[in-house]
Amino acid sequence: MDGPSERIDELRALIGLHDERYHEADDPEIPDADYDALLGELKALEAEYPDLVTPNSPTQRVAPAGRATFAEVTHRVPMRSLDNAFDVDELQAWSERVLKRLATDRDGEESAEPPTVTWVCELKFDGLAVSIRYEDGLLVQAATRGDGQVGEDVTANVRTIADVPKRLADGAPPVVEVRGEVYLGLSAFEALNAAQEAAGEKTYVNPRNTAAGSLRQKDATVTATRDLSFWAYQLGEVVDGPEPASHLETLTWLAKLGLPVDGHVASFDDFNDVVAHVGAVEMARHDLDFEIDGVVVKVDDLATQESLGFTARAPRWAIAYKLPPEERTTRLLDIEVSIGPGGQATPFARLEPVFVGGSTVTAATLHNADQVVAKDVRPGDLVVVRKAGDVIPEVLRPVLSERPDDLEPWTFPTACPACGEPLVRPDGEAATFCNNYTCPRQVRGRIEHFASRGAMDIEGFGEQRVDLFVGEGLLDDVAGVFSLDYDRIADWDGFGEASVENLRRAVDTSRERPLGRLLFGLRIPHVGTTVADLLASSFRNLDRLESATVDELEAVEGLGPVIAASVHEWLRQPHNLDLLARLRIAGVNLEAPTTDPDDQVAQVLDGMSIVVTGTLTGYGREEARAFIVARGGRSPGSVSAKTTALVAGEGGGSKLTRAEELGVPVLDEASFERLLANGELPD
Ligand code: IVH
Repeated sequence: MDGPSERIDELRALIGLHDERYHEADDPEIPDADYDALLGELKALEAEYPDLVTPNSPTQRVAPAGRATFAEVTHRVPMRSLDNAFDVDELQAWSERVLKRLATDRDGEESAEPPTVTWVCELKFDGLAVSIRYEDGLLVQAATRGDGQVGEDVTANVRTIADVPKRLADGAPPVVEVRGEVYLGLSAFEALNAAQEAAGEKTYVNPRNTAAGSLRQKDATVTATRDLSFWAYQLGEVVDGPEPASHLETLTWLAKLGLPVDGHVASFDDFNDVVAHVGAVEMARHDLDFEIDGVVVKVDDLATQESLGFTARAPRWAIAYKLPPEERTTRLLDIEVSIGPGGQATPFARLEPVFVGGSTVTAATLHNADQVVAKDVRPGDLVVVRKAGDVIPEVLRPVLSERPDDLEPWTFPTACPACGEPLVRPDGEAATFCNNYTCPRQVRGRIEHFASRGAMDIEGFGEQRVDLFVGEGLLDDVAGVFSLDYDRIADWDGFGEASVENLRRAVDTSRERPLGRLLFGLRIPHVGTTVADLLASSFRNLDRLESATVDELEAVEGLGPVIAASVHEWLRQPHNLDLLARLRIAGVNLEAPTTDPDDQVAQVLDGMSIVVTGTLTGYGREEARAFIVARGGRSPGSVSAKTTALVAGEGGGSKLTRAEELGVPVLDEASFERLLANGELPD
């Protein structure tokens, strides 16, 4: 059993990763509920072992300071987060804490009179918090929450939101900061996706992430096309304004100034009515044209709010009651089995399309054989489907009252649907496997991952080509990527001389990828990009990693015992060692880049993200990227709103267009040289 300190470290690392996915990439990997569970576990452990609390623990702050590509705005009044209640008991416990605190005076004496509190309930809008500053009634600045202290300046983008007045009604004070939520309404989201589909473009996954992406566009004219909306719900700094006595009065004043305030506000003196109200909101959530993920309950009286104050993270006078993830029913058309790159056979449901949790769902995982049995879902059933955030949807249960008479229980197939070999379920394990290492589905999965952007990043080696090469027997494992029979490929339809040459060049260049990329590409269980980079920078080369003991692996800061054991075991399996030997023969780089201080170049590109496209005369593309990385920058394969600059050589193509669309500066080779030398971007 791991000690609390190891688990705390592991939890902090995980939460850090998910924070990054959520806040920086706008691409959460796990549902909010799972994230909250991690945070809850960490809080509980820290409460039990207060000595292990550190100032930079995720429990002590609102969110990580993201890498700003927008100008920074320091909030004059910090933008706090809210604590959550996941069920009615937690909600009630919060109200009792509030009442107890109010009943206890400074000397710890309980007062004779029980305190009376008016509670205000608002919807918890599922969007992004922004703070909008008006001076003399005019909108002068808008900022995201960021880490709560410092946010990003998104003034130009917020100005494009129709709901947000550029000028307040008469009587506005010299300074007023309005806090609220920017969101994308459901009909606006659907219209946007319909337009994307009509244009043959990729559709967006859910309204929240789309709103986030839209607000952080470099080019405000793009934001303007997104039909974002806004609800105001709080004040930040106010200079010489009226002094409302309660939250309800604040909301009335905001509305009077011309700001949009949602009408579903309710106030109660009896907390039982608050509980009844959240239940009613839950029932009615589908009637709204925007997504909510809860109800925010606030103490109405502002003097009382002040006396309750804040914890490090959140106000004591408010709580977010989180609604359980949305559920919908639909028809289970069939149960199929997919084979993962590691051979795992996962049953999944084919569903009649249903809109749930903000997107249309047509398939949902059923996890494993036991889950199908436990849930007793059968092809033909009407089933309840749930989706939290934008994660993989889940089939919860059948609606038995609707079950047709003749439905047979589903049985797990005995043969792999891809290769026909037996499917095996090891004793005591929940998962079933296809153990055929050469199963085409597994081979494809391994190679697809190896060539993917986060791993060896081999351009032109996407899913379709992998399918083709494996299907034609040209490729049967990842090492084979480096000994492709290009003459044969050149004979195929659709492969001109140039495309074969490009492929050859892309494969050759990928040999030089840093060791961390290679390690990630190998799909060692538990080794994601962060762990892969950690292994590479700690062991410096494959030889040393191969000979590392479990203890040496565990000694690496950031590696828990589970990961250490997994890496160690993977490196002992003969077919993996054989694969590594073949990668070595193929001339793949097995060394981490040097960090000898004498060789160290100045980190002039720290925090920058520089994308390279087209053909440069002085550098190969990969060489240019290596120069960027060596100077502390990042060099992703595609242009996004977060890109600092695009270096464009001859024939820039789609990346160039994208950069122009997003207003990302485009550099020629001469400007690139200057950038490498001193980190300077041209004016
Ligand atoms: S009040 C100091 N009210 O929820 C209190 N927040 O989980 C500040 N949110 O950062 C927040 N609806 O983005 C408040 N009616 C509402 C809200 C709301 C949505 C968001 C907001 C906040 C987050 C906290």
